[in-house]
Amino acid sequence: MPEVRIVNVSKKFGNIIALDNINLTIRDQEYFSLLGPSGCGKTTLLRLVAGLIEPDSGEIYIGDRLVNDVPPEDRDIGFVFQTFALFPHMTAWDNVTYGPKVKGFDMAEATTIGHEVLEMVKLHERLDAYPSELSGGMMQRVAVARALAAGAKLLLLDEALGQLDAKVRNEIRYEIRKMAKDLNLTGIHVTHDQSEAMAISDRIAVMRKGKILQVGTPQELYMKPESIFVAHFIGESNFLEGYVAGGSKSKVVVEIREGLKIQASNGAVEEGKQAVLSVRPETLTLERGSKKIQNGIQGTVERITFEGPNMRYEVRLENDSLIVVVKSTMAGNWFNIGEAVTVVFPVEHTRVFPYPENRSLKEEISVG
Ligand SMILES: Nc1ncnc2c1ncn2[C@@H]1O[C@H](COP(=O)(O)OP(=O)(O)OP(=O)(O)O)[C@@H](O)[C@H]1O
Ligand SMILES: [Mg+2]
Repeated sequence: MPEVRIVNVSKKFGNIIALDNINLTIRDQEYFSLLGPSGCGKTTLLRLVAGLIEPDSGEIYIGDRLVNDVPPEDRDIGFVFQTFALFPHMTAWDNVTYGPKVKGFDMAEATTIGHEVLEMVKLHERLDAYPSELSGGMMQRVAVARALAAGAKLLLLDEALGQLDAKVRNEIRYEIRKMAKDLNLTGIHVTHDQSEAMAISDRIAVMRKGKILQVGTPQELYMKPESIFVAHFIGESNFLEGYVAGGSKSKVVVEIREGLKIQASNGAVEEGKQAVLSVRPETLTLERGSKKIQNGIQGTVERITFEGPNMRYEVRLENDSLIVVVKSTMAGNWFNIGEAVTVVFPVEHTRVFPYPENRSLKEEISVG
């Protein structure tokens, strides 16, 4: 139920800066994901919220309570790990009622709670099964039920679906979200899988190297990435290098080769500075033939992949860069390999970023 507030939190392990001054508020009853490549600090942040480790500096609030000195068992949280942390020698029922019993509820109360939560996760008919007799998805549901029975108001899931096969994973992720919503819980879901985060989150924090790069709804992150890394990590983007050749803040003109100019919509990049344009493949328009049009760059179709719903065209542009254009198959008007085309950049979906400092574009988007 509670809001979670992380204020100026840093954590080092020896020389490794696992978290670098994190500030983040997760709203009451929000289903929130921490998303980022391996080693970016997701688990560390979750463990700090759980109280399993202490921050070097900063404060963590759950609801109105500063919990820095509150032990994990008194934080009203449920922690679901990637590896199923069920007691293997206990049945689903005993796993679930363990929490209430330890908390001092009597047998009748523990039984009522046990029935309630097993009903919620729809595992009532399997209450006598041992973990080894349950599927991965069922085990995760028992783990959630156990957390709920122990009084969790805040559900923390660390790659909780990582071990499940793709199909089960897809189903369970919606179920867990729905459960959290139905029970008015706050959920923090750690994953490095962007499609999973996009599918189930109210909001997402994209992390990299101990920092939060951007927080937003899946749509905000997709439509308005604020960095090259987010544009690359969420969905698919084309990148083009160039120099800022004027324009205004809302319409920056970037020259990708002498005489080849593209207008982009965002960005505070100084004139004359090296810049990177990013644009989603499905926002580009393909025109037949070589045309001189505003924001159009001429090129040749080099490769076509039929993906069912979409046609995916790889077009070699005049400046020699390769760009991906995705068009709905049903829209018809298909193009052929070797055909001369003009790729038109939509100003409102073309974003411009300063060229990375001290490294190449390729290094910037390499994951990690
Ligand atoms: N107990 C520890 N001792 C030493 N270093 C640690 C410890 N825990 C985490 N780290 C380091 O801190 C950094 C962040 O680790 P963390 O486990 O939070 O990453 P993550 O985002 O969860 O990655 P993954 O997706 O691989 O699980 C990594 O460089 C990791 O090696
Ligand atoms: Mg982790």
